[in-house]
Amino acid sequence: MKIGVIGSGYVGLTTGICLASLEHDIFIYDLDEEKLAKIKEKKLPFFEQGLEEILEKVISSEKLLPQNKLDTLVKETDGCFICVGTPTKNNSIDLSQIINSINAVTTSIKNNKKQDYKIIIRSTITPNTSKDVILPILDHELGELGFGLAVVPEFLREGNALDDFMNPDKIVIGSLDSDTTSFVRQIFKHFENNCQIIETNLESSELIKYTNNAFFSMLISFSNEIANVSEKIPGVDPYKIMKALISDKRITTKINNKNIIPGLESYLIPGCGFGGSCFPKDVQALVDYANKNDIATPLLKAVLDINSERANKMILLADAILGTLKNKKISILGITFKPDTDDLRSSPALDAIDILLEKNADISVYDPIFKLKSDIVKIPDGCKICFNIEDVLKNSDIALVFTKWKEFKILNSELLKQYMKKPIIIDGRGFLNEKEFEHGTCFKIGMNGNN
Ligand code: UGA
Repeated sequence: MKIGVIGSGYVGLTTGICLASLEHDIFIYDLDEEKLAKIKEKKLPFFEQGLEEILEKVISSEKLLPQNKLDTLVKETDGCFICVGTPTKNNSIDLSQIINSINAVTTSIKNNKKQDYKIIIRSTITPNTSKDVILPILDHELGELGFGLAVVPEFLREGNALDDFMNPDKIVIGSLDSDTTSFVRQIFKHFENNCQIIETNLESSELIKYTNNAFFSMLISFSNEIANVSEKIPGVDPYKIMKALISDKRITTKINNKNIIPGLESYLIPGCGFGGSCFPKDVQALVDYANKNDIATPLLKAVLDINSERANKMILLADAILGTLKNKKISILGITFKPDTDDLRSSPALDAIDILLEKNADISVYDPIFKLKSDIVKIPDGCKICFNIEDVLKNSDIALVFTKWKEFKILNSELLKQYMKKPIIIDGRGFLNEKEFEHGTCFKIGMNGNN
């Protein structure tokens, strides 16, 4: 099939590359011509493991065609995905990129006199956006030509995007009419025998996406709230508490006497909180949507409130251990919001760095991404950049781990003693092996005392 993708950011480019690898002809457009030029040169503008190799293939085979003219994209295709950003502005969803791209695509549809062109919204949009904002524009502009509209959200985790796309658990198709549903089903035909295809209306599809992200955010904040309780009770280990919870047979099922550990286990680890471009933004947008429609969302508000305290929890613990942070040398290990990405958006490490700078601490940062893609990660002013673990630990008073990078698993007392003034580390992700650290050197938030 010949399909367009408007927006070559994380969602659009991943969608475009993967669909092109499934033998569709994908025309990808972006306002940013530099980005398109980079894609043409087979360079991924962000870091996502495994994706650049496929980009190389689909550009070479001309299955992915970067296109700087929207008119040409529309002329060549029967429908397109809209994959532009929906950031937060003043705590509300900012739909300006969606509106601009819908206006631009309708102009191209009219220029090409395309009948029944299908528009598929892939961006995350709050409930009723397609009905109240997009549909009126399409009705007004394309009433005579006819059109199709669908909302088909993505459920890709950064760092796992390729696998999530190629092995989906579900494909949600919220659609205006059966013709558009069939069109979208055809695009994703490759997956029809291996995953659930959920057909629904536009509004439900919009809400499904938010529900997904709100649920996992809620699990994280739940585990963090339990950690807040347990830190006031000497001797309680919140990680064990979560382990016990997860082993409940309503969560961990048994098949042939073997425990099937659920994926949600990885969202029940107390720590320095969630970040990224999705969880914080989407929960906030849902709260704002509900608020504007007189719907109470105390649970979702609490999810955000609990999360907003997490970075500071790390700092408070460091302060309590050292007595003061002024002029102390602090090693930050991990600055991305999660491992295997170069994304710093809403990263807890950035919030912590802001607080530390205010306290006049002396900050050094190391993230494994610096070795993989040093050119695209912007480090806050006032921090020293290091390119390996040893360097960041040198002469340091305390090490704070914010990201669960595999490379940090090598940390142990020996290494800390070799480089730091005194071996003290706070594991903000609850993943380091306590046995590797001498008593009183490795702290985890939520634990009263230490290891
Ligand atoms: C998330 C969803 O998981 C995807 O399904 C969704 O498609 C995507 O948002 C989106 O809306 O586009 P992602 O932002 O890549 O994907 O991140 P996750 O792997 O789900 O992790 C989110 C954050 O939670 C990370 O900062 C992670 O460190 C943090 N986290 C995770 C915790 O703080 N505690 C945990 O126990 C687990």
